[in-house]
Amino acid sequence: MDGTLGAGGHAAGLLAGSDPGGQLLGMDVDPQALALAHLKLAPFGERAWLKKAPYTSLPDQLVELGWDSVDGILLDLGASSMQFDTPERGFSFLVDGPLDMRFDPSNPLTAAQIVNEWPEQELADILFRYGEEPASRRIARAIIASRPVGGTQQLAAVVERVQHRRGPHHPATQTFQALRIAVNAELESVEKILPMAVQALAPGGRLAVISFHSLEDRLVKEYFRRESKDCICPPRQPICTCGHKASIKEISRRPITPTETEIDQNSRARSAKLRVAEKL
Ligand SMILES: C[S@@+](CC[C@H](N)C(=O)[O-])C[C@H]1O[C@@H](n2cnc3c(N)ncnc32)[C@H](O)[C@@H]1O
Repeated sequence: MDGTLGAGGHAAGLLAGSDPGGQLLGMDVDPQALALAHLKLAPFGERAWLKKAPYTSLPDQLVELGWDSVDGILLDLGASSMQFDTPERGFSFLVDGPLDMRFDPSNPLTAAQIVNEWPEQELADILFRYGEEPASRRIARAIIASRPVGGTQQLAAVVERVQHRRGPHHPATQTFQALRIAVNAELESVEKILPMAVQALAPGGRLAVISFHSLEDRLVKEYFRRESKDCICPPRQPICTCGHKASIKEISRRPITPTETEIDQNSRARSAKLRVAEKL
């Protein structure tokens, strides 16, 4: 199962690697991504089942397909290159676009609503929580004072006025990350899918998660750590009372990161961390 199909690059690799008998359930909430994946995966015919659905619908999808379990699950989290590079989707401040940022265009919440309608305190909270933005309050105040904020470049300029450049990244990077996470409820989805994924795997099956920022990676890391232990009682407790049993083993304790060559070929891979766990 590829829960984040995108343009179908990973899915094509999975299908090629499981030739001739492997079947793949691929999901994405973005119809544009799904159209690209359909084209890319057409050569695999009936071996690929593609669905416009959130990956958190995995249990329902398995029932619909009549599959008891799957042998592998891949989640390549975040936005795709196609989404970043399509100005009308509003993910990038490098080109102007509407404040949209929805993976799923049927999602009723857009970045424009958050930026132009949410109270200052709530805005500051998401910038701090999802962007780890130390200047969250200052930025929220500046956004409120600039309302209505029309597009991505206006928003980036508002942030740049109150937050000076630190290091190589544009000062609006964390604000854009925070808005995208909030619009798409990304962290909630990750928290929800991890136990569902482990439940859906056949023994010996593997769950691979690629994350692009520390908030996501932390959720995956902590989940893998906890679920690979037989006891999760506080360390000082002399006798185990939790009755917890490990359901997975971590394939490597450290995340797998891209090589220099891969980063040279694809600079967006720079911050990727891959964690893999195997169902016991
Ligand atoms: C980083 S891209 C995946 C790229 C893909 N691995 C490829 O090879 O092209 C992430 C994709 O996940 C999708 N996505 C994000 N959250 C999702 C969710 N909760 N359910 C399903 N798809 C989701 C996005 O729309 C985006 O297309």
